[in-house]
Amino acid sequence: MNLPFLKKKDAVAFDIGSSSIKVVHMSQTKKGWELQKLGIAELPPEAIVDGSIIDSMTVTNTLKDLIKEHGIKTKDAVSSLTGHSVIIKKVSFPAMTEDELADSIQWEAEQYIPFPITDVNIDFQILGADIEGRGQMDVMLVAVKKDVINDYTNVIKEAGLNPVVIDVDSFALENMMEINYPVTPGENIAMVNIGASITSISVILGGLTIFTRSIPMGGNQFTEEIQRQLNISFKDAEEIKTGKKAPGPEAEDLPAAIEAVSTNLVFEVKRSLDFFLGGSQGSYVNKIYLSGGCSKINALQNLMQEKTSIPVELVNSFKNIEANPKHFDKDKLKELAPYFGVAVGLATRRFADR
Ligand SMILES: Nc1ncnc2c1ncn2[C@@H]1O[C@H](COP(=O)(O)OP(=O)(O)OP(=O)(O)O)[C@@H](O)[C@H]1O
Ligand SMILES: [Mg+2]
Repeated sequence: MNLPFLKKKDAVAFDIGSSSIKVVHMSQTKKGWELQKLGIAELPPEAIVDGSIIDSMTVTNTLKDLIKEHGIKTKDAVSSLTGHSVIIKKVSFPAMTEDELADSIQWEAEQYIPFPITDVNIDFQILGADIEGRGQMDVMLVAVKKDVINDYTNVIKEAGLNPVVIDVDSFALENMMEINYPVTPGENIAMVNIGASITSISVILGGLTIFTRSIPMGGNQFTEEIQRQLNISFKDAEEIKTGKKAPGPEAEDLPAAIEAVSTNLVFEVKRSLDFFLGGSQGSYVNKIYLSGGCSKINALQNLMQEKTSIPVELVNSFKNIEANPKHFDKDKLKELAPYFGVAVGLATRRFADR
């Protein structure tokens, strides 16, 4: 419900990834969205592993540093989860209203969730009414493990913030696309967000996410392979991979290491997309939008386009967002855009949402 006299409160978005925390604050103006704050702070590799917070103190302190560095005054915070703590499934339920489903969801969802229903928070989105008159409707069921939500809300609280929404990465990406790219009716777009430890894949049709998958692979695999093939430390491998440090005489092995991991990753992405394409008759994907830090790897972009035969485009998370050139450098924003897909999407959430 969108009541114009109920002023919605701004919230600040934190994408707490396993390699870095990204912060975005945007305000809604008459013309659209305007960027207010933007920041990124690296996390050591052992702070968050496979989507679980291992070293909460480091995560809290990094949040505090970001808040201080960027002079963030807003207390209400939005964040998100991804990976194995999130289960998203498209299921078929008897046709009913949203309110009816809200009342019965715990009961209806139980058979689809591989954990005790009391251990998860359940949410849902009705995808379409009963098109075929079968008395059934498609619903996107979302279950997130409560202990993982608690870990994330705790670090946010410890940093002096008030956690108002914990979203899911792929839905944040859907929101980011909604404000930046016009919806083309009948067009299916795939989002592939390749982070440090997790790659999430989703398909959006007419602005709604209709399929998601996550793969426990990402930039760390590239770094580990470079480390192995060039026989150097993880830190050096990371710096060489991201172009912060020039490789020494062993540089000739670098393209082979990158190609080996790209091949594996693209294979897995293609497998997920093939699963979607095979799932219902006449399914197709018109375009793949890449985001996440690894989307910077050109060889990976090219290989993905070649192996999937689907056009691949790097996402511009700030495409439709006003940014005052006094505070934000245009070229810098372009360079940072792939990292901020999730954070920008989260920043569109308003406190009065749902
Ligand atoms: N220029 C670059 N070239 C290659 N890889 C890069 C570059 N910049 C960043 N990366 C890699 O991208 C990854 C970080 O991406 P991102 O910030 O999207 O991940 P994250 O959100 O922290 O992780 P996750 O979502 O998996 O928990 C790291 O593995 C990093 O090494
Ligand atoms: Mg991420």
